[in-house]
Amino acid sequence: MTQFPKAFIFDLDGVITDTAEFHYLAWKELGKELGVTIGREFNEQLKGISRMDSLDRILGLDPSLTDMPEAEKEQYATKKNEHYKRLIETVTPAHILPGVKGLLEEIKQHDIEIALGSASKNAPAVLKQLGLMSYFDYLVDAAKVSKGKPDPETFTTASDGLGVAYQDCIGIEDAQAGVEAINQAHMFSVGVGELLKNTDHKVATTEQLDFQTILTKYAEWRNKKQ
Ligand code: BG6
Ligand code: MG
Repeated sequence: MTQFPKAFIFDLDGVITDTAEFHYLAWKELGKELGVTIGREFNEQLKGISRMDSLDRILGLDPSLTDMPEAEKEQYATKKNEHYKRLIETVTPAHILPGVKGLLEEIKQHDIEIALGSASKNAPAVLKQLGLMSYFDYLVDAAKVSKGKPDPETFTTASDGLGVAYQDCIGIEDAQAGVEAINQAHMFSVGVGELLKNTDHKVATTEQLDFQTILTKYAEWRNKKQ
């Protein structure tokens, strides 16, 4: 029997829109103040990771910064967020990544639910700016969970919110931490990015997110599990 998914859970930054780049630029700006260089390779480790966990990883680059008091850390995290918020002011529907709107449309046409599973506290604001709010049946952002990715809580909370079993969900992610979170939630993981590991299905760019291909791979995965 062909198995159909009941829900898609989308990461935001780097999947729906390229705000992953804005997070990177904002951290880089903060890095200048801290006297640490944040390169693209290191930035891969920050993708999908909460604001505070990201700051901790950055402070870990310089032994003289590792025991920074919490209050000071809060100030730096706020500063990074201010840089980031300035950058996202420019976000409009034109910034939806290629293929994403079409995929959302197709999912809706098939009466499959859609949730957001983002680690960002700015996610609802970005989704509004993109004009995509109406596609989403349930939103999970950093404010709704106590454990960030790679913990599965973001994805299980989304699935619980929709009232759908975990194995009936497909998660889409561009970050390794996010892929691990989907896998640990026992959902079907779709990765966007050539370097990702342990995905159930992987594409290089969002343009290659093809609804029918995802459905076929998902059905194979479900059949193997039975
Ligand atoms: C994730 C991004 O979606 O959200 C991370 O991939 C970011 O790079 C995290 O650090 C937290 O975002 P925010 O907006 O709450 O600082
Ligand atoms: Mg992401």
